[in-house]
Formats: sequence, C-alpha cells, structure tokens
Amino acid sequence: MQELVQQIKQLEELSNQLEVSEFERENTLKQVSAYTNQFINQLPVVKAFNEANQPSCGLEINNIKKSLNKLLEIYQKEVVEKGIIAASGGHLGYIPGGGIFNASIADFLAAVTNPYAGIFYASPGAVTIENEVIDWLKNVFDFPKSAVGNLASGGSISNLIALTAARDKHQIKNEKITKSVIYLSVQVHHCIQKALRIIGLEDVIIRYVELDEKHKMKIDVLELLIENDKANNLNPFLVVASAGTTDTGAIDPLVEIATITTKNKMWFHVDAAYGGFFILTSKKALFKGIEKADSLVIDPHKGMFLPYGLGAVLIKDKEAVFHSNHYLANYMQDAQNDDLSYSPANVSPELTKHFRGLRLWLPLQLHGIEPFIACLEEKLLLTTYFRKKLVEMGFKVGPTPDLSVSYFWYPFKENENEQNKLLIDAIHKDGSVFLSSSLINEQFVIRMAILSFRTKLSTIDRALAMIKSSLEKTELQD
Ligand SMILES: Cc1ncc(COP(=O)(O)O)c(C=O)c1O
Repeated sequence: MQELVQQIKQLEELSNQLEVSEFERENTLKQVSAYTNQFINQLPVVKAFNEANQPSCGLEINNIKKSLNKLLEIYQKEVVEKGIIAASGGHLGYIPGGGIFNASIADFLAAVTNPYAGIFYASPGAVTIENEVIDWLKNVFDFPKSAVGNLASGGSISNLIALTAARDKHQIKNEKITKSVIYLSVQVHHCIQKALRIIGLEDVIIRYVELDEKHKMKIDVLELLIENDKANNLNPFLVVASAGTTDTGAIDPLVEIATITTKNKMWFHVDAAYGGFFILTSKKALFKGIEKADSLVIDPHKGMFLPYGLGAVLIKDKEAVFHSNHYLANYMQDAQNDDLSYSPANVSPELTKHFRGLRLWLPLQLHGIEPFIACLEEKLLLTTYFRKKLVEMGFKVGPTPDLSVSYFWYPFKENENEQNKLLIDAIHKDGSVFLSSSLINEQFVIRMAILSFRTKLSTIDRALAMIKSSLEKTELQD
C-alpha cells in the first residue's frame, strides 16, 4: 500500500503541471490579451487574403516544449497570415460573419468552467441557457413553444438533424426509399445533398425545381411535379426551401411552398442558415411563411456574427426527433427522469458537447439586440452601394438580391468566362479584400457576400479600388 501511495505521489509531481498556477494563468492571459488586441487592431489595414499554396510548416507536434510567445509567433505566421482572414471585414467570400469578441469570451468561460451541456441533470444551468437561446430563436421565427431545437456546430449538422426528423416522421426506409421524392432548388446548399447521403437517403428521387429569373423556386412547377409524382404512385414527402441561398441570396416563396406541403401532407424544411436573421430587419416581409416550416435551420455564426461553431435547428415534431436521437443507456440512468426535450443530447447525435449556448447568450445580454439589427441593415445598404458602384464601373450585376449576397461579372468582349476567371485570380493575388467566384447558369461570376460585422463603407471602397486595379491588370493581359 505504501509503495502504491509513493508511486501516486511521484506521478503527481509531473501531472500537477497541467494545473497551472495563478501567476502563470495571469501571465498567459496577458500575453494572449496583447496578441488578440494587436490582431484586432490591425484588421482594418491588413490584407483579407494571402494566397499560400504551400502547407504551413513549424506546426508539427514533436514533444519539444516551446514558450507561449514563440507559439503565438508561429500561429500568427503559419495560421493567421495564410489564406483568408475570416475575422476581417474584408472577407466578402463564401458566407462570412466575423466573430464578435464577446462570443470568444463566452467560449473561454465555457471552456474554463466546462459545464456538461448535453444533459439537464448534469448542468441544469448550462442546459437552461442552451434552451433559453433556442426559445429566443423560436420567438424570432414565430415557432411554437412546443417545438424542440438544438445548438449544433453549424448549418450542415443542423440540416442533417432536420432531414433525419423528416425521414423518420415519414418513415422513409427500406423499399420506400426509392419511391420517395424530395424537391430541391439547384441553389440549395450542398450540405443538403451530403446530409441525404449520410442519413441513408442517397437513393431517393430528387427533383430540381426550375427557378425564376431571381433564382427562386417556381411554384407552379413545384406543384405540377408533385401532382405528376403522385399520379405515378411515388411518395413526395419533402420540400427544402432556402431563405437566403448561398450563391444568390434568394428567398424561395415560403408561403406558397407551405400551402403546397400542407395540402400534400409533406414535410416543409427551410434552410435559413445564411439569411435567417434578416427577419429582424426591414426585410421581414420576405420571410413570411417561415413560421409554417416543419423544420428550420439558422446559423448564428453567420447572421449573428459569432465565431465559427454555432448553427441552430428548430423542429416542430418532437417525436420524430426523439426517434433518432433519444436512447436509454444504463450508464445514463441517473438522468432518466428529465423531460426529454430539456436535454440537448435527445435532439442531436452529440452527447458530450461544447457549451455553445453561452456564445450567443452572453453577447445578447451584453449588447442587446439593437446593434445586431443595425449591423444587418448596414449590410443590406452596403450591398446596394457596392452594386451601384460596380454598375458605374461597367460591370454587369445579377438580379437585385433579396439580402446581402449578390454577383457580378465584367462584360469582356471575348472569352467572357475565361477573362472573369483571370479577373478573380488578379483579385486573389491582390488580397486586400477577399471575394469568391461561382458559376450561375454557366456564367462565371464573382460573388460578394456582405455579412461580416466588420464590413464597413470603407471596406467596400477598398474592394472597389482593388477590383478597378485588378480589372486594369486583366485587360492589360488581354
Ligand atoms: C444556406 C446555407 N446552408 C447551409 C450552410 C452550411 O453551413 P455550415 O458551413 O455552418 O455547416 C451554408 C454555409 O454557407 C449556407 O449558406
């Protein structure tokens, strides 16, 4: 026994190093604070994109200890300064958000205190915060209190949870799979097709509904497709609409889709991962009908400007969600008396999870909602400004967007697509602002996604100057 105690004490000497002293903690926080302040202060002047074709080096784990200062130096050079600086207001590619500071503080608090946010019994306080955030979202989107929700890592997993519930509600399994039909727009985010494969629905029939000139689903076409499929003894069970498509920012006609899905007893899913929070703005009317969805996805790491790592799903039919996500295990027996809908673990494939609710709860408590709404309104106006200026410069622009994603291209006299590709290459080489490209109806276009809370009028002016000089360079090459 004495030997055993001695061995344990010996190990303690080394294992205690993991509990750093208050002095060390303060030192660490000082260094991290100095580093993050410098990072944020420089964002308005540094490039938003640094093309880097080489993998980063010096990041290997080799059991050679380094100081935090040294590691921050490596991090800055090999991580921050390579590729897109997603925290920059100059990130106008894909779907940016920025990452508000107080959400990172919430993450820090969640990590230090480390409450178990998967099960109510384990941390009623943390789980209440998770549920408070979900209730707040239900309120924003006029979902009933009885709906369930989950805070997932992002839009992809949130969509996966929703589509799984749709599958289970309609019992799409076995021989029913190949007779069942899902209706999508070609503009739907690709995480929908990915989710269908993951949840065993790879072999369902997918109908891509024709879109109008504003990239929205044509309702008469959708209705006709469903009627035809029913007449052919198929099983139409799901329509996926977008409230803000990734490429064009279009909102599908939600009221009309809801009427069709109700009439045909189908599941109505809305992916509002990008656009959802614009419901808080002057664009509210465009979201009419969203409250009729059976399931809804919204990403606070997009429209609420949080750092990456928070998507949300709301689902009206609890039982469908519990069917796939609730499971009783002996080692969980202490928690079995909880109301199922309280515990995030019953609404998601995750059991142990990061306490994500705090990263939205804390900023909302500190700032109130008004600055978020102002920021969203500002993005809408910046989109209009950007498009007008581009037209003045001779660019063609896509249709007036519903929200803050749009696209443009230069009408080169020859080889339009190839030349626009050269233009985006020149834009990427410059990097002061980051834009991405896409292909819309075979047209090579440059996308602008204005959503970062740090994107300001000055950022758009910088983008315009960069586009002008990149265009000159491209024309010179011609
Ligand atoms: C409309 C839409 N849905 C889903 C997603 C996927 O979300 P995430 O990247 O958070 O998984 C995105 C991402 O841009 C999106 O724009």
